[in-house]
Amino acid sequence: MQLQGKTVFITGGGGGIGEGLALAFAGKGAKIVLADVNLHEAENVAARLPAGAETMVVALDVTSLESWAQAKAQAEARFGAVEVLCNNAGISSGFKPLVDMAPAEFERLMAINVTGVYNGILSFAREMGARGHGHIVNTSSMNGLSPFGSFAAYSASKFAVLGLSDSLRQELAPLGVGVSTLFPGLTRSRMAEGDLGKVEAADPARAAAIRANMMEPVWLGRAVVRAVEANAPYIITHPDYKGSVEARFEEILAAFGEPAQPGYKTGAKATAQG
Ligand SMILES: NC(=O)c1ccc[n+]([C@@H]2O[C@H](COP(=O)([O-])OP(=O)(O)OC[C@H]3O[C@@H](n4cnc5c(N)ncnc54)[C@H](O)[C@@H]3O)[C@@H](O)[C@H]2O)c1
Repeated sequence: MQLQGKTVFITGGGGGIGEGLALAFAGKGAKIVLADVNLHEAENVAARLPAGAETMVVALDVTSLESWAQAKAQAEARFGAVEVLCNNAGISSGFKPLVDMAPAEFERLMAINVTGVYNGILSFAREMGARGHGHIVNTSSMNGLSPFGSFAAYSASKFAVLGLSDSLRQELAPLGVGVSTLFPGLTRSRMAEGDLGKVEAADPARAAAIRANMMEPVWLGRAVVRAVEANAPYIITHPDYKGSVEARFEEILAAFGEPAQPGYKTGAKATAQG
């Protein structure tokens, strides 16, 4: 897709990666809608975008379809049809064992990170399909490919984003609408800073080393722009995580041995008795 003059709607537009997306799409001459539950931060991002970038800010709580309808109407009234939807808003669970996570906290995480993405798709995908063009970018995480202990609920939410995106890509391709999934590793943002809180208290030197390794969000934005232009399914910005993803897939592939039921699909099915 060519992006000049197109409208790009970014959820979590007031956050670090949202700002990186906005900068990169604005660099291509797109019109930017920064949608966030935190209007103040979205306005700050809008103020930092280069002069001349066509930008607007809208209030959006991704968990509410009513809020989506209002934000969509505002965006369309000013900038016309949305051609690119970036479902990027998300929250972290913080590092802790799953059993220490309260049910309400788990529900909220899923409501924002998973239902929020579904709500965005529900609000825009049908119209994109009817027009025969458009693109949806969903932000997952490296934790959506390679989970680790103490981040279970967050990983579950980001695996859900991948499953949803891959399936949606198949559904929308015949209608001319593309779907890509972004899998960031550690990237400079308020979320990343928040997750560093405990490390900072326990070991400031380690926190400083981690901070120094955070990627700058605009590079993620540029990778997303290239993926939208080329309709690429996956956007990997941090190749340093490849080893852990490979190790996980190798374990999964190694589990594909003989069928559990002898003779299954070979025509000589054994019965449950033997
Ligand atoms: N920063 C990282 O290292 C990293 C790594 C992997 C994935 N991610 C993902 O990237 C996305 C962006 O995160 P970020 O790092 O820029 O964090 P961030 O905290 O800077 O930005 C997230 C934004 O989402 C907004 N938001 C939260 N709840 C919302 C809601 N209900 N409705 C609308 N907006 C809401 C916040 O106000 C915030 O502005 C998230 O989905 C996150 O899970 C981030």
